[in-house]
Amino acid sequence: MTRIIGVISGKGGVGKTTVVANLGTILASEFKKDVIIVDCNITTSHLALYLGMYYCPVTLNQVLKNEAKIEDAMYEYHISGLRVIPASLSLGDLKGTDIAKLKHSLKSLFGKTDIVLLDSAPGLGREAMATLQAADEVIFINTPFVPSTMDIMKCHQVVNDMGIKPLGVVLNMVGKERYELGRKEVEQIAEIPVISLIPMDKNVLRSLALKVPVYLFSPNSPASIEMKKLAAKLIGKEYRPPNLLSGFLRLFGIKPRE
Ligand SMILES: Nc1ncnc2c1ncn2[C@@H]1O[C@H](COP(=O)(O)OP(=O)(O)OP(=O)(O)O)[C@@H](O)[C@H]1O
Ligand SMILES: [Mg+2]
Repeated sequence: MTRIIGVISGKGGVGKTTVVANLGTILASEFKKDVIIVDCNITTSHLALYLGMYYCPVTLNQVLKNEAKIEDAMYEYHISGLRVIPASLSLGDLKGTDIAKLKHSLKSLFGKTDIVLLDSAPGLGREAMATLQAADEVIFINTPFVPSTMDIMKCHQVVNDMGIKPLGVVLNMVGKERYELGRKEVEQIAEIPVISLIPMDKNVLRSLALKVPVYLFSPNSPASIEMKKLAAKLIGKEYRPPNLLSGFLRLFGIKPRE
């Protein structure tokens, strides 16, 4: 069965594209899943940019305009076989692109892949609503602050009304500062469990400058480890972070006790 998971948020800039690019790469390479990631944020598309994919002659825009098949807008990224469906970077390509056709356009992927991750536009506008209509499950991306959490609360109501399964909140860019909301406060306001806490990590910004997911740039950085745990959780598995001491002992040929 193909799972279609929308990655949404109330506020913009909270880390949806970062999480989609990393989760996709991790699920494909670490957990050997067949994964497709789709840029559903057609007005300000970034997914392909985050992966260093600048030349994509056919995009989701052409598919939504009925000018191409979805398979023709699919590009392989990384040796893991992760596939990416980018949206066009050109303003001109927005003309005639009807995002409401997203659900229909994705239909041919059913049964052909394990997981489809949809990188949504923020808020509850046309693009985000089309993403929700196409999704069976959703992950809410949030930052540890009141305004973004209030918006998640609104999104949650819409998700409930639409009968979509909420998987939980990913609290991103956590700095553990006193002025930030904690896990419990977010859960109380949004009424959804927090399933992951991803720290504010400069490696994410460094990896963006190099146009690679942080998981490939720095696999054991704090953000990468949390994203690996999240990927495992999504497919009902457990990820055990590397134990530094056992790694050190192995260097000297000593087999550590598990
Ligand atoms: N855990 C993190 N630590 C540090 N920086 C981060 C982290 N997560 C995301 N960022 C940075 O925050 C910025 C916004 O991230 P991103 O583009 O993924 O957000 P978004 O929700 O997709 O934005 P939009 O709503 O515009 O689509 C990027 O510069 C990204 O590198
Ligand atoms: Mg984005």
